Amino acid sequence: MLRCDLIIRDATLIDGTGAPRSTGDLGVTGDRIVAVGDLSAASADREVIATGRALAPGFIDAHTHDDRAVLCGPECLRCKSSQGVTTVVVGNCGISLAPTRMQRRPVPPLDLLGDEAAYAFGSFGEYAQALAKSPPAVNTYALVGHMALRAGAMGEDLNRPATDAEIERMRRQVAEALAEGASGFSTGLYYKPNMMATTEEVIAVGEPLRAAGGLYVTHMRDEADRVCASIEETLKIGKRIGVPVWISHHKCSMPENYGRSVQTLALIEAAAAMQEVGYDMYPYPAGATVLMPDRLRPECRVIVSWSVPHPEMNGRDLADVARGWNTDIRSAAERLLPAGAITFQMDEEDVRRIMAHPLSVIGSDGIPQEAHPHPRLWGTFPRVLGLYSRQLGLLDLETAIHKMTGRTAALFGMEDRGVLRPGAYADLVLFDPHRVIDRATFEEPTLPAEGIEEVWTNGVPTFRASQGMTGERPGRLIRRHRA
Ligand code: ZN
Ligand code: CU
Repeated sequence: MLRCDLIIRDATLIDGTGAPRSTGDLGVTGDRIVAVGDLSAASADREVIATGRALAPGFIDAHTHDDRAVLCGPECLRCKSSQGVTTVVVGNCGISLAPTRMQRRPVPPLDLLGDEAAYAFGSFGEYAQALAKSPPAVNTYALVGHMALRAGAMGEDLNRPATDAEIERMRRQVAEALAEGASGFSTGLYYKPNMMATTEEVIAVGEPLRAAGGLYVTHMRDEADRVCASIEETLKIGKRIGVPVWISHHKCSMPENYGRSVQTLALIEAAAAMQEVGYDMYPYPAGATVLMPDRLRPECRVIVSWSVPHPEMNGRDLADVARGWNTDIRSAAERLLPAGAITFQMDEEDVRRIMAHPLSVIGSDGIPQEAHPHPRLWGTFPRVLGLYSRQLGLLDLETAIHKMTGRTAALFGMEDRGVLRPGAYADLVLFDPHRVIDRATFEEPTLPAEGIEEVWTNGVPTFRASQGMTGERPGRLIRRHRA
C-alpha cells in the first residue's frame, strides 16, 4: 500500500496545464508529488479533506521586486504566501541587489530595493549564498539587472552610453552571474539613467545569455507613444543575442495611447511565430515606481507610496499634497524626493485585453519596500481568480491558473514546477474557488486576500489561513533549465 507524507483528498484538481479540472486526490512525499488520482488505497501521515476546494500548483509571480524581501525572514513575504505564491522572479526592470555594493544611496530606481545597506553583494554568488543561509518561504528565480551593473561599472555618471571597457566589464559580470545561478538579464531602459544605453550596449552586455541559455527580460524604453518601437527594439535584441525575450508588465501608458493594445498584441503575436517572446502583466489600471517629477501628467491621479523627507504624506494624493503646500504638483513632487508614486495611467479595457490574450502570464510587480504599497503587492493573484475569472468571466479558472503556473514555469524554464503530476515538486495552493478574492485596495493596500487556505513550497506548509505564515523556510534558488 502506498504511504505518503501528505494526502489531499477529494479536491478539485486544476493541474496548471490549462486542462479541464477533475476531482481527485494528490499525494506528497518529501518535496515531490508522488501520485495524483484515486488514492483511496493509500494512507499518509497527514490527510486533508478538500471537498469543494481547488488544489493547484503554487503560483509563480513572474515579475517581482522581492530581491530583498526573500532575505528578511518569513513575515516579509506574507504578502505573497497569503496569495498562494510559491515562487518569485526577482531582479526585474534592471534592478538587482547583486553584483554591485553601494557606498552611497543608490540612484533611483535602484533605491526601490532600499538604501546602500541593502546593496551588500559584490557578486551574484554572494547573493545566492545569503539565500541559501537564510532561505525564504518561496523559491527564488533571479535575473541580474543592467542598472545594477551600470552603477558598478560606470560610477556616478550613468547618464551616458557605456564605453567599450565598461561594456566589457558588465558583459563579464553577466557571464559570471549566470554561472553562479542567475537565470537571465533584465533592463529598465525606461528609466533616466538607463535611457542613454544604446540597443548595441544591451546586445553586447547580454551576449553571454546565448551560451548560458538565459532569458532577456525588459522594462521597455517606452510604454507610451513609442510602445511599438520599443517592442521592435526588444525583439531585435532577442534576435541579435539569440535568446528568448520577455516583456515586463506590458501596458499602453497614458491617455493618448489607450486602446493601442490591439496593435501591440498583434505585433507580439506576429513575432511569437518567429521567435520566443512572452510577457507578464498585473491586473490593475495603475502602475507604481519611483516618483519622477518631470514625467507627471496633471490628468493622471498620483498617490504617494513613500517619501523619505515626508513620510506623513504616504498614501496621500499628490494633488492634495500640492494644494496643502500651496504649490503645483511638480514642485510638491520635488519636495517629496526621494519618493515613490502610484500612477493611474492605463485603460481598464487594455488591462483586460492584455490579460485575456493567450500569450500573457501574471506577475504582480509589487514593491515590498513601499510604505503605502500599490495593492498589487497583496492582491494580484486572488484578484485575477476572484474578480476577472469568477465575477467578470474574462478567463476560465483553468486558464487563469495556467497563466500563474504551468505557462510561466515552461517559459522561464522552471523544471518540474507549475504542474500537478507525479514527480513534480510539491509547490501547492489549496483555495476556495467560490470565495477567493483580493481585499487590498488603493486606500487599504495591505489587506490579505480571502479564500487561500493552505500553501506548500517543496512539500512544506508555508502559510495557513488559520495561522498565517508557518515560519517554515523551504524556498530554494531555482535556475533556468534549458529546453
Ligand atoms: Zn518595471
Ligand atoms: Cu518592475
